[in-house]
Amino acid sequence: MNELGSKRPKINPAFRTDVQNSVLCWLATVGADGTPNVTPKELFCCHGDDRIVVADIASTISVRNIINHPKVCVSFVDVFRQRGFKIVGSASIVAPEEVEFAQLGAELLRMAGGDFPIRHVISIGIERVSRIWAPSYSLFPERTEQERMQSAYSAYGVTPIER
Ligand SMILES: Cc1cc2nc3c(=O)[nH]c(=O)nc-3n(C[C@H](O)[C@H](O)[C@H](O)COP(=O)(O)O)c2cc1C
Repeated sequence: MNELGSKRPKINPAFRTDVQNSVLCWLATVGADGTPNVTPKELFCCHGDDRIVVADIASTISVRNIINHPKVCVSFVDVFRQRGFKIVGSASIVAPEEVEFAQLGAELLRMAGGDFPIRHVISIGIERVSRIWAPSYSLFPERTEQERMQSAYSAYGVTPIER
């Protein structure tokens, strides 16, 4: 992400890759009384070069919070490469009857494959971005990506399938 000299950070290839390799994102919102709320969302993707979209399938509290208070924080990590990003942004709720829904929701609808009805698109304009690294990146900087992935497979009891 290019943060310098730009009010709105732009999505770069590293960000896009980590979004694609993250099974879930965690969407944090704030309730009217200031109560924090954070829940996982599987259906999320980049939209254009400055926006993340998330499918509201069953996210009643997140949607209600955003309507009252649009500031959100989203984090996601590629658990095998042990890295990801955190963004802060302003979210809006887009209903299916609104004109932007088709364009904003196209990729989410493709990902949902008809199995999961999307009630709204949660559209998040990215305002700030920061990297998330596992501590092993600073503790063991000499490790290769392959070694990090092997270590994660072993920690999580995962056997990768050759593709
Ligand atoms: C693995 C997993 C993936 C999920 N993906 C989504 C999703 O993409 N969209 C969604 O609306 N809810 C998703 N959920 C369900 C919400 O996290 C869940 O309904 C939650 O209670 C909603 O909380 P909220 O009302 O505070 O947003 C997922 C849950 C799990 C466990």
